[in-house]
Amino acid sequence: MIFSTIINFFLLILQTMYNNILTSIENAILTITINRETKLNALNIETLQEIKKAVDAVQSDKNISGIILTGAGSKAFAAGADISEFVNFNKKEGTKMSADGHEVMNSIERSAKPVIAAVNGFALGGGCELAMACHLRIASDNAKFGQPEVNLGVPPGYGGTQRLVQLIGKSKALELLLTADVISAHSALEYSLVTDVVSIEDLMPRCTEILNKIATKSPMAVAKVITCVNDYFDNSKNGFQTEIEEFGKAFSTADFKEGTDAFLNKRKAIF
Ligand code: COA
Repeated sequence: MIFSTIINFFLLILQTMYNNILTSIENAILTITINRETKLNALNIETLQEIKKAVDAVQSDKNISGIILTGAGSKAFAAGADISEFVNFNKKEGTKMSADGHEVMNSIERSAKPVIAAVNGFALGGGCELAMACHLRIASDNAKFGQPEVNLGVPPGYGGTQRLVQLIGKSKALELLLTADVISAHSALEYSLVTDVVSIEDLMPRCTEILNKIATKSPMAVAKVITCVNDYFDNSKNGFQTEIEEFGKAFSTADFKEGTDAFLNKRKAIF
């Protein structure tokens, strides 16, 4: 009782630190909600920085097992970068906007805690890029995905040209990037852009269910899987070498002792 009062107190403080997102913690899951519903949760620069801050803040928090990222309301996850904010940017400002956005996306992708995008409506442009930076994407059946930047006279700037290719392959990615077509949740599932489509009511429960399952596994091993998979796509790294090193390092951890001991003694591991 006292413990949860203290947690709620700190949550309240944390909440007031943000202007554009809401955060809540329940059963060790941090939910970050982009809270700009009247602007279809368009991602202005401050919103992206707040998302990064919220994700970074829990990286070494043992009481957090995973993160859900979603949008307020039932119409949009995020309808893209905030066009009104960058409309008058020059080359230097555009470059900085993109570089800073890449940092945000990279920090989500490299999060040691699994991050699931609960895509509850439009995920366009920067919204689709944000979802793609998450480790998993679950869509509600009203969700829509697209990279419509070519309509605005720019290519995607938050990693869309790279992550879309990684996730759905070059042909389909180029089709979406070049035509600016917006696709349904079911097409996104068919393309493997998302791993599941559920009703809007089932969206958060489904994401919670997945994170709860992951939470029963070794957090150390989960973090290592994320690192190794990321390194596959990092040209400066050799993912196979990373795997050899991370595999070896795991042997000196308590999680490894617990996991193997539990198996050999026919009991459930407690990490
Ligand atoms: N940036 C800034 N504002 C945005 C936005 C964005 N990416 N997407 C939506 N909004 C704002 C609209 O300007 C509008 O604000 P207003 O009420 O103050 O005029 C509000 O959100 C509602 O959007 P609206 O266009 O009226 O909703 P709609 O249901 O008619 O259309 C979309 C929904 C998603 C099809 C449409 O908003 C859209 O095309 N958005 C831009 C998508 C895009 O190009 N994203 C990539 C950006 S890089």
